[in-house]
Amino acid sequence: MIKVAPSILSADHGRLAEEIKAMEAAGADWIHIDVMDGHFVPNITFGPWVVEMARKATSLPLDAHLMVSDPLRYAPVFARAGADYVTVHLEASAHLNRALASIAEAGARPGVAINPATALSALDSCLDLVELIVVMGVNPGFSGQPFIPSTVEKTRRLSALLAQSGLPTPIEIDGGVSDRNAASLAAAGATVMVSGSHLFRSPDYAKAVTQLRRVAQGHGQ
Ligand code: DX5
Ligand code: ZN
Repeated sequence: MIKVAPSILSADHGRLAEEIKAMEAAGADWIHIDVMDGHFVPNITFGPWVVEMARKATSLPLDAHLMVSDPLRYAPVFARAGADYVTVHLEASAHLNRALASIAEAGARPGVAINPATALSALDSCLDLVELIVVMGVNPGFSGQPFIPSTVEKTRRLSALLAQSGLPTPIEIDGGVSDRNAASLAAAGATVMVSGSHLFRSPDYAKAVTQLRRVAQGHGQ
């Protein structure tokens, strides 16, 4: 079953709670919250209070994607703020296992994100410690960037690796996802589609969410 996770980075930030409720009404499965610290990536976005606000606005699972240089410090903060999944970057975590453990201790599900230029082998040490793997389809930091096509093959290889290891861990794709690539990403083994600009640009959220899920599930354009 494919899940669609709108990224509120592309929402109207003056009406975040309404935008979240509108995506819930449109049939979204998760709400993706991009946390940027201006250090790991050039932008600065949301603090833990935005997660607290989102927690009050929706009962959907909150998927916090931490693009921060110090995940050990911030990951438990976002877990305590009400995120269901807290994902940290492989590239940011000198003490990845400790960061993942701190998320679980704070009551959330730990996830790990991997940048386009990072080899899958970097995931080896944490495959059995995470409940979500986020494969970046763009270099993190901005919405609306073009999808990097090699992400599809990377997803296929990760999916095979997980199957070999007997792990049911879901693969989420983040960055550049749209109706144009959702089918090949799903065929490669991804089950969670994050989408920012594609969904929020649409005049009809329900139609856009349904269409993205349908395309990913192989029911055509
Ligand atoms: C990129 C973020 C993404 C972003 C995706 O750094 O992690 O979640 O919002 O936006 P689109 O779907 O527009 O590429
Ligand atoms: Zn993200």
